[in-house]
Order: sequence, then C-alpha cells, then structure tokens
Amino acid sequence: MQVCEIRSATDSDAEAVAEIYSHYVRNTTFTFEFDPPDAAEIRHRMHEVRKSGFPYLVAEVDGRVVGYASAKQFRPRPAYRFTVEDSIYVAAGAEGHGIGHQLLVRLIEECRNAGAKQMIALMVGENPASVAFHASHGFEHSGILRSVGFKFERWLDLTLMQRALSDDIVESKDNATDRATQSATDRMTRGLHMGGGTLQSRDKLHDR
Ligand SMILES: CC(C)(COP(=O)(O)OP(=O)(O)OC[C@H]1O[C@@H](n2cnc3c(N)ncnc32)[C@H](O)[C@@H]1OP(=O)(O)O)[C@@H](O)C(=O)NCCC(=O)NCCS
Repeated sequence: MQVCEIRSATDSDAEAVAEIYSHYVRNTTFTFEFDPPDAAEIRHRMHEVRKSGFPYLVAEVDGRVVGYASAKQFRPRPAYRFTVEDSIYVAAGAEGHGIGHQLLVRLIEECRNAGAKQMIALMVGENPASVAFHASHGFEHSGILRSVGFKFERWLDLTLMQRALSDDIVESKDNATDRATQSATDRMTRGLHMGGGTLQSRDKLHDR
C-alpha cells in the first residue's frame, strides 16, 4: 500500500484535481460530464462542498496530489440532508495502491462526523473496478437504472450502491417502536385531558 497524506483540499489543489478529473472526463464513461471543468470551476465546486459542511479531501504523496474525494448531499431537497453521495478519483496510473481506500476511509469518517447517516455511490455501468472498490468498503447494490446516460455513442446504465454510516438507523427501529408507544400514550393522555376540557366547557355552558 502506498501510504499517503489525506488532508482537506485547498484552493491551490484545484489545478491538480482538474488534471486528474479531466483524464476520466475525456477518456472514460466513469463520469457523465463531457467537458473537463477547469481549475476555476473545480475551485467553485470545492467551495460549494465546504459550504454544505461535507468534506473535500486530497491524497498527497511526496508533495504531489494523486487523488481526491468529496461528498455532497445526495439530492437537494431538505429531507435528504442525512444522505451523501461520494465522488472519488485516483490519478491515472496510481490506481491499485490503496490510495482510494485511504481516501474513502477518511471520507466516511468525516461524513459521519458531519452527521451523515447514509452514503450513496453512483457508478456508470462500465466501471466494475469502482463497483468492486465500493463493495470492498461495505457498500451494497441498491439497483440499476438502465440506459440513463449516453456518452461515446452508447447508452449507459447507472449502478446504485449504498452503505449506512451509522447504527442509529438500525436503532431507529426500536426508537420508532418506543416513539409509537409514547405517542399512543400521549394521545390517550391528551384525549383524557381534552375529554376533561370538553366536560369543563359543557359545565361552563351549563353555568351560563
Ligand atoms: C475506483 C478507484 C477510486 C479505486 O481506488 P484505488 O486506489 O485504485 O483502489 P485501492 O487500491 O484503494 O483498492 C481498495 C480495494 O478496492 C477493490 N478494488 C480496487 N480496484 C479494483 C479493481 N480494479 N478490481 C477489483 N477490485 C478492486 C479491492 O478490493 C481493493 O482491495 P485490495 O487491493 O486489498 O484487493 C480508482 O480506481 C479510480 O479512481 N478509478 C477511476 C475513477 C472512478 O471510477 N471513480 C469512482 C467514481 S464512482
């Protein structure tokens, strides 16, 4: 394994990140983008991620950025606020040396600290390495969306994988039962009070 330093990305990493990503945009279907974003656009995306409170990380070996990873809220609507989607790219030629692993472990830890409960990975159909990579980190298949992308003159599927980041979700089953019991008790108690209130009102009406 190539041990690397994993740290938060800064604006000055944007050039290196743009260079890593542009290879995949130009030559692969691992991303649905067609035109590689320049460093300014990457910087903007970094700011957006940071503003959302989720991590944007780079992996550095001997002062060179060899990979990056980030997380963003899965979809914009507020009920999705505990669910993130990851994005992780290792420089072409540097794959297979544990860099992705170190990035993802740290990404998961930071997302968890930021309160995320679920992480989603979206993979274009022809990316078995990424599917295997995510599976090796506890992600499970959640489904396939057929022919949702068209790049390099072919239709492409999207594979969805998911991993829980927190045991709370499992616990929430019990909590839900507790809450249901509690709210039933509350309703009964409120009902009794309301009943009392109604009687009182009637009494008042009678008093009038
Ligand atoms: C997918 C990617 C991030 C993985 O990073 P990496 O540094 O190459 O992976 P690692 O060396 O850390 O591998 C960790 C584990 O993932 C699995 N894995 C990684 N690459 C694999 C491959 N090509 N085939 C099968 N399993 C693989 C293995 O279980 C591996 O553990 P092992 O080496 O002990 O067997 C990297 O290959 C990459 O950047 N690919 C192109 C961009 C991309 O597809 N990004 C994901 C978009 S969703």
